[in-house]
Amino acid sequence: MVHQRADSRLEWWKCCSIYQIYPRSFQDSDGDGVGDLNGLLSRVDYLAWLGVGAVWLSPVYRSPMRDFGYDISDYTDVDPLFGTLTDFDRLVAALHERDIKLILDVVPNHTSDQHPWFVESRSSRDDPKRNWYVWADPDADGGPPNNWLSRFGGSAWEWDARTEQYYYHAFLQEQPDLNWRNPAVRFAFADVLRFWLRRGVDGFRVDASAVLAEDPLLRDEPPNPDFDSKTPPPERFKRVFTDVRPETMSYIEEMRAMIEEFPDRALLGEVQGSIDRIGQFYDAERPRFHLPLNFLLLDTDWDATSLAAGIDQYINAIPDDAWPVWILGSHDKPRIATRIGIEQARIAAMLLFTLPGTPIFYAGDEIGMPNSVISSEEARDPFEALVPGYGLNRDPERAPMRWDGNEKAGFTSGEPWLPLGDHVKERNVAAQLSDDRSVLSLYRQLMALRQTEPTLHSGQFQPLRSQSQVLLFERCSDDRRLLIALNTTTGSHTVALHDRGMLRLSTHLDRLDEPVASQLHLRPNEGVVMEMLTSSLSVSLPGYCGSRVSKANGGISSRPSLQWVIETSD
Ligand code: GLC
Ligand code: MG
Repeated sequence: MVHQRADSRLEWWKCCSIYQIYPRSFQDSDGDGVGDLNGLLSRVDYLAWLGVGAVWLSPVYRSPMRDFGYDISDYTDVDPLFGTLTDFDRLVAALHERDIKLILDVVPNHTSDQHPWFVESRSSRDDPKRNWYVWADPDADGGPPNNWLSRFGGSAWEWDARTEQYYYHAFLQEQPDLNWRNPAVRFAFADVLRFWLRRGVDGFRVDASAVLAEDPLLRDEPPNPDFDSKTPPPERFKRVFTDVRPETMSYIEEMRAMIEEFPDRALLGEVQGSIDRIGQFYDAERPRFHLPLNFLLLDTDWDATSLAAGIDQYINAIPDDAWPVWILGSHDKPRIATRIGIEQARIAAMLLFTLPGTPIFYAGDEIGMPNSVISSEEARDPFEALVPGYGLNRDPERAPMRWDGNEKAGFTSGEPWLPLGDHVKERNVAAQLSDDRSVLSLYRQLMALRQTEPTLHSGQFQPLRSQSQVLLFERCSDDRRLLIALNTTTGSHTVALHDRGMLRLSTHLDRLDEPVASQLHLRPNEGVVMEMLTSSLSVSLPGYCGSRVSKANGGISSRPSLQWVIETSD
């Protein structure tokens, strides 16, 4: 199937679906049990077939792999575990040939402690690179300079016996924080970005971008009022002096200005923290990120009311002209198919591709991959070792991709670096390719629909009142009106319509182009996209959806929502 670009006036990062690949776990080519670039290269036709418009690739730089690549010892080379720069260039070319963009993960906040910059910095207090990292004297009793905690457990300060100072690390002690206040660091980092932009990458996902700067007074963090016995110890204090500091915003603006030296590139940012603050990461007086990543769908309770409220909260938290973005999975969060179950994972997929804004999903979500069950003893993630007992292990979502139902799932000829997990027989690409009602087929059809339906990316968003756990909204353009109805329960429901329509897609993939008159019957766990026949629009709704609204949030309408009558049949 040829996917036409539905609206050529939109920038690519607005109309494409983005697919995150964790390279260790995608495809191994050399039998060492760890995925690599040549493995990925052998799967680019799959990506084209699936219909993704961009790949976000987690780090492949040289790294001691303490945090599996998020601890970088050379920003301008590929780790031999993954391949070479030549392999990387071949990957860029192969993706571009298929009209797929490449977004590279970059990690500006910290390096590995093995990075030559840090090796120099810790060599002496007089070293020219001393000030490239965050060093501080002990407090009066000889302990750490203040109460700041590492996100991965314990003090965020590590004592350096040779030079008798502490260095700061927001994450592992092997991940010292760069000192972004130092212009030399910012220049060096801009050169790193230029290096990859010249190699043809189309954008970056900026790791941990909210924590680039710390309070220069090193003030103590206040207690976290929500802290109780179930809260992981690293969250004992509120992160006021280490998170989203004003200086961080200006560094992001500099990064964005640098990116603009190259045409048509995009900047995505990992901006941990509350949804209410996400708006700041878009354009201020100077532009910041194109897409500050939004994890709301992974953090919201899975029922229609909570989802409707969460979507509303997010839409209201971003500026009027900001482009929304939604994420359904990542290498840091439990898999959606495990969290809400495989039936509802189909609903989640339909939601992802019909909401206004850019959809991002994580390799394996398209086959309903579950978390792997990994015992504490088997855990590879350092987070689990450092903060055990709080369910923080990220290995379960990092288990290898399943390409077929064979013993090693087609991932490797060797021993996979993490156990494959359950349901390999039915939840693998080959099995689902031959099943035209599989989750994989659903993902592909949803992406194809989004590509051929401009209303789904540039149409207005009209929330409707959700009842009986059916999440309802519409996407509208001048001549089209699509109703999305998602049953978040295991019971069936009937939605009374004010209008006739044509069913364009059901998450069950067993009905298509079915006319619906006044009642839409939704089976358990069923979601549908319906095209409404606007000619017969109810008289009580003059100008509905056809009228332009000024709020431009990916075409979000601020019109008050309609009442829909829903009957529950069981
Ligand atoms: C980001 C990454 C995560 C990593 C951390 C430290 O949150 O997504 O995987 O551990 O940064 O680099
Ligand atoms: Mg390998």
